[in-house]
Amino acid sequence: MQYPKKLVDEVVLRSKGMRLEGLNEGEGPVHPQLMIIGEAPGRDELISHRPFSGSSGKELIKLLSSIGLTRDDVYITSAVRSRPYEIKEVFSKRENKNVIKYPNRRPTKKEILAHAPFLDYEIAKVEPKLIVTVGNVGLERLLGANHKISQEHGTVIENVPILELNDKKDAYVWSKKRYTIFPQYHPAAIFYNRKLTEDIEKDWQIIKPYLENN
Ligand code: URA
Repeated sequence: MQYPKKLVDEVVLRSKGMRLEGLNEGEGPVHPQLMIIGEAPGRDELISHRPFSGSSGKELIKLLSSIGLTRDDVYITSAVRSRPYEIKEVFSKRENKNVIKYPNRRPTKKEILAHAPFLDYEIAKVEPKLIVTVGNVGLERLLGANHKISQEHGTVIENVPILELNDKKDAYVWSKKRYTIFPQYHPAAIFYNRKLTEDIEKDWQIIKPYLENN
């Protein structure tokens, strides 16, 4: 989805001084079967200009296919739409000296608040009925910091308001509209813990009965 220039300018201003690079827009149809909300783009996404196009994306597509969906059926975005990076000095054996690296990292609460106008805009335009949050960042952005993926993965939270920016755009308030939320582990979780694969596959099956034409 192309974000209006005014919205991009607003978020750029709100993010001034933050270690965020590039802009990766959300992608998919309006009124989708599902809206998927992740964490933030990584390096792969900045290169391809497509959300979830790296290794986590491959896992996400497999999970979608397990419930009869393709990438084209869903709208994919995340809480932050620029790549959060850290600056790390590491020793390079190849170069035999210290070098500076800029790896991906999880976005901070301040960065998520700075980018909140993007997600609010996308939710208003896309009008999803069902939202899948993948990982803690998306879940906390929608439902608050007392929600934890470790406890709520594979559940369904039906017909609830979500957090959106207040009029001053400096804090969150509850939305008037209500949504059904499926908290799921981030697909990248299996790269750190292979044993989660089966649990994640099982967790996704809870979504199937809620889909149209199922
Ligand atoms: N993780 C996310 O949350 N979003 C992406 O686009 C890629 C990885």
